[in-house]
Amino acid sequence: MPKSPPFSYQKLFSRAAAEPFPAGMPPRGKYDFAVAYPDPVSLPYQGLVSALLTALAEEGRDLAIYGDIQGYRPLREYVAAKLARDRRIKVGADDIILGDGSAQPLHMVFETLVDPGDVVLAEDFVYIGTLRQLRRFRANLQPVPCDGEGMQPGPLEAVIRRAIAEGKPPKLIYTVPTYQNPQGWTMSLPRRKALVALAQKYDIPILEDDCYWDLRYEGGDVPSLYTLDGTGRVIYFSSFSKIIAPGMRMGYMTAPPQLLERCRGAKSGGSVNTFAAFAIHRYAKSGQLDPHIREINAIQRYKRDTMLQALERHFGGQATWSRPQGGLFIWVKLPPTADVAGIRDQVLADVDVGYLPGPAFATDGVSGKNYLRLCFGYNTPEEIGEGVARLAVAFRQHGVPGFGRKPARKRPTAKAAV
Ligand SMILES: Cc1ncc(COP(=O)(O)O)c(C=O)c1O
Repeated sequence: MPKSPPFSYQKLFSRAAAEPFPAGMPPRGKYDFAVAYPDPVSLPYQGLVSALLTALAEEGRDLAIYGDIQGYRPLREYVAAKLARDRRIKVGADDIILGDGSAQPLHMVFETLVDPGDVVLAEDFVYIGTLRQLRRFRANLQPVPCDGEGMQPGPLEAVIRRAIAEGKPPKLIYTVPTYQNPQGWTMSLPRRKALVALAQKYDIPILEDDCYWDLRYEGGDVPSLYTLDGTGRVIYFSSFSKIIAPGMRMGYMTAPPQLLERCRGAKSGGSVNTFAAFAIHRYAKSGQLDPHIREINAIQRYKRDTMLQALERHFGGQATWSRPQGGLFIWVKLPPTADVAGIRDQVLADVDVGYLPGPAFATDGVSGKNYLRLCFGYNTPEEIGEGVARLAVAFRQHGVPGFGRKPARKRPTAKAAV
């Protein structure tokens, strides 16, 4: 039989097919400030393993069945109790969908609400995963200018009115109001009230992504947009990724039944990982999660302070940066002519330091070349100090404005950097 040419899918891709995505893990530096990972040393392996064993002894047989499409009910009951206690959000287990992280519930909502060309408003720099998903659904992303208190009401209303005038009333507003990713601010109460009032005035739903709320190192609590609204227009998301581990892949959302039933329809793959849900549920229900959060907050507060001090030492005078009250990252602003996007891969190769530049978070994908996000959750305090020092050396080497240029004779080494 003659050999047929290799089969090609090129002409078969649907109009909705995603853009190609690189395989494998992106290269990581030893000083990994690129991704918002939690502290890896304090991960509660022992607690999770014994919690899992308890659950398996009690109801392990249920792994044989495809569970509830909204996810393991006892964990949803725990989430409902946590939301009531922590965020004054009064919902029941039936109002919650668990998912593969909070990324999957976000995906279900975008699939349910966003048609190509729909206007979606978001902060001027915003979580990269959401941007990727919204681009995938071909949303018309509109940035809302922010300052240290969050979205600014005047410009927000102007963006809404412009969209309406163009015949495209905004479909939804996406926000990370607490320890915003990547900018680090917490939206103040007056700003939250103003945002909710505008959403009500122009009848727009809000997606409140609150996955960093538990990681508070200082400052008081601010009520959720969900409770400030009270009309069902706020869809609330959170996750166990930052308070236990991203590898658990367990997050959740709550929304009114009218939306939840459509999201259930959008959910593929039957239930949610019951194995992980067993472990998280028994671990949390037995009272171990709250002390764990206190423990990681003490660790991560110290790491944040270490990074702030290192920035003061090595970036002082040439940059400004956020001082987040919680979360996992610091947002650094360099002089306007600096471009740390183009040199990122070279810096990683030269000094083993990973970071994400501003354009990764920009709605247009190009703005903010003079910004970078530095995450402090993963490395040890010593590594944080050394990594920031190395970064300053690399920036000087690359002639980043504000850092001066060092004669480029030798590659920076660990010794040179410290
Ligand atoms: C603001 C925000 N939302 C959602 C996520 C998704 O997290 P996961 O799917 O692990 O819950 C992240 C992860 O970094 C995030 O920063």
